Amino acid sequence: MRSGHLRWLWPYLRARLPALAAVAALAVVASLLSIALPYLTKEIVDQGLLAHDFPRLERLCWAILAIAAAGFAIGALNRWLYVRASADVLFALREDLYAHLVSLPPALQRRRAVGDLVTRLDGDVAEIQRFGTDTVLAFVNGALALGATAAIMIYMSWRLALIAAAALPLQLALRQLARPWITARTRAVREQTSAIAHFLYETLSATKAIQAYGAERHESARLAGLNRTYLGRLLAQQMLNFTVGGVSNLLSHGATAAVFLVGGYRVIHGETSVGTLVAFVAYMARGTGSAVSLLNLVTASQRARVSLERVRELLEPGESGVAAVASSVDAPAPDGPAGAPRRRRRGELSFERVRLGVAVCGRPLLADTTLAIDAGAKIVIHGDSGAGKSTLVDALCRFVPLDAGRIRLDGCDVATIEPRALRRAVAVLVTEPTIFRASLFDNLRYGRFDAPESAVLRAAHRAGVEAIADRLPAGYASLLGEHGRELSTGERQRVALVRALLRDPDVLVLDEALANLDAAAAVELLHLIDEQFGDRTRIVVTHVPSRVPSPDAVYELRDAALVRCDDRRARA
Ligand SMILES: Nc1ncnc2c1ncn2[C@@H]1O[C@H](COP(=O)(O)OP(=O)(O)OP(=O)(O)O)[C@@H](O)[C@H]1O
Ligand SMILES: [Mg+2]
Repeated sequence: MRSGHLRWLWPYLRARLPALAAVAALAVVASLLSIALPYLTKEIVDQGLLAHDFPRLERLCWAILAIAAAGFAIGALNRWLYVRASADVLFALREDLYAHLVSLPPALQRRRAVGDLVTRLDGDVAEIQRFGTDTVLAFVNGALALGATAAIMIYMSWRLALIAAAALPLQLALRQLARPWITARTRAVREQTSAIAHFLYETLSATKAIQAYGAERHESARLAGLNRTYLGRLLAQQMLNFTVGGVSNLLSHGATAAVFLVGGYRVIHGETSVGTLVAFVAYMARGTGSAVSLLNLVTASQRARVSLERVRELLEPGESGVAAVASSVDAPAPDGPAGAPRRRRRGELSFERVRLGVAVCGRPLLADTTLAIDAGAKIVIHGDSGAGKSTLVDALCRFVPLDAGRIRLDGCDVATIEPRALRRAVAVLVTEPTIFRASLFDNLRYGRFDAPESAVLRAAHRAGVEAIADRLPAGYASLLGEHGRELSTGERQRVALVRALLRDPDVLVLDEALANLDAAAAVELLHLIDEQFGDRTRIVVTHVPSRVPSPDAVYELRDAALVRCDDRRARA
């Protein structure tokens, strides 16, 4: 494992150092206790059995029992401490990554499949956590037991100890040799796990579309194909691991056989006692076990390294490059508390030589556009699909960066407004509002988490959501399923409208919010918006500009320019 990887993991381990140190200390005690056991066997054979001393034999048996019981108690305490500390590391890692991902600009998030993210956050983080914490335990246990058994073995017979150790350098070389293959095969398996997770996530949330296209068998076949690839990769990885472990074991057995051969010869010729050989072999088995677990650490570190790389990829600058840190100094004051003096009319927008698109999709969507929108005006923007209307809205909310120029909201460059304050001032209604798996009430309150119940109910009343609540079995407490399948598109728009009302924005943008509504529902929604947000700046992005009654201006986004196309209606 490269030091860079460990440096990155270190802060997470450092916070849990006392607990991990306690785990290590207890592991030392448990190790020492277990090391005493083979020595007692030697005493039983040589001093009890061969010396025909039954009282001594009895005392030694009690000692074995007491040591085993103490080992059990220490083991239980250690497991408790260990699970807590390692879970702490896991959760801290995952929470930090989640906080990072959830605040990434959406344009960057779309680059990664959700299933891939989930696999990295779940499987890979767990792999790192396992390594980060298991290593402490395994290393302490392994190194200590190996050191102690080696010392005792050398003390008992240095010749036999030398023979026993002969396999170790070969085993180390073998692991080192296999390293690139282990890394590559582990990565292949992790990637396929991501692919399957993504497949499940994507298809299970689109069952309706799958059935509509009659693609059930097609998707099942795709899963089977993904599984076959996974199996192939898993087998390759497992067989490699097994071969490396197996050859390593063979070498250990060879060393054991050599010890029996040489040790047996010495016992037969009276140079070594039977008890010594029995105890030596017991220590050797223990020492071999420790050596194997230390060697396994090498393999585990290779696996963890793959996971670390996959998790660190989530934090790479490419993922977060756009998330410029903005100061909130110039941010307009958030809406005052209830009872504050009536605020002045806000929501004046100005686009100053705005250039947009190259940073997003590699081609200009808007070139040197200058435009002013009065506070409280209602404007319509239309244009071909792919012209860049949604990207323009994203730029207004700082979801994507400008190539040049600036957008001002009430005189403040939006690039200097703290994103959360900006997104509170500019509310966007989209074609398919997100409905979370929660009650209708909580879905409404998503607009402002600290809104009192009465404010939510008032906004619901204003947006006509009461009728929806009346229809649902448990009213506002009714649980909405994933993606809000219980609600029609028009109803989901009303939920979004309640959220917007609670946010009390200065600018309300409808980005194709009417697209999935019939003409009557669209007119009704627009009417409701004019009624509730009549004094706010409204930007209606639509493919059917004629639906929008009495706009102050109509623009077409064409050839990277906003062209005014309502001159006959233009105001002085
Ligand atoms: N994150 C992104 N990465 C790459 N390209 C993008 C990204 N976001 C938008 N684009 C591209 O930018 C162009 C403008 O897209 P945009 O969604 O803004 O168009 P639109 O005018 O809103 O279209 P529609 O009317 O279909 O909603 C498209 O070619 C789109 O593929
Ligand atoms: Mg769009």
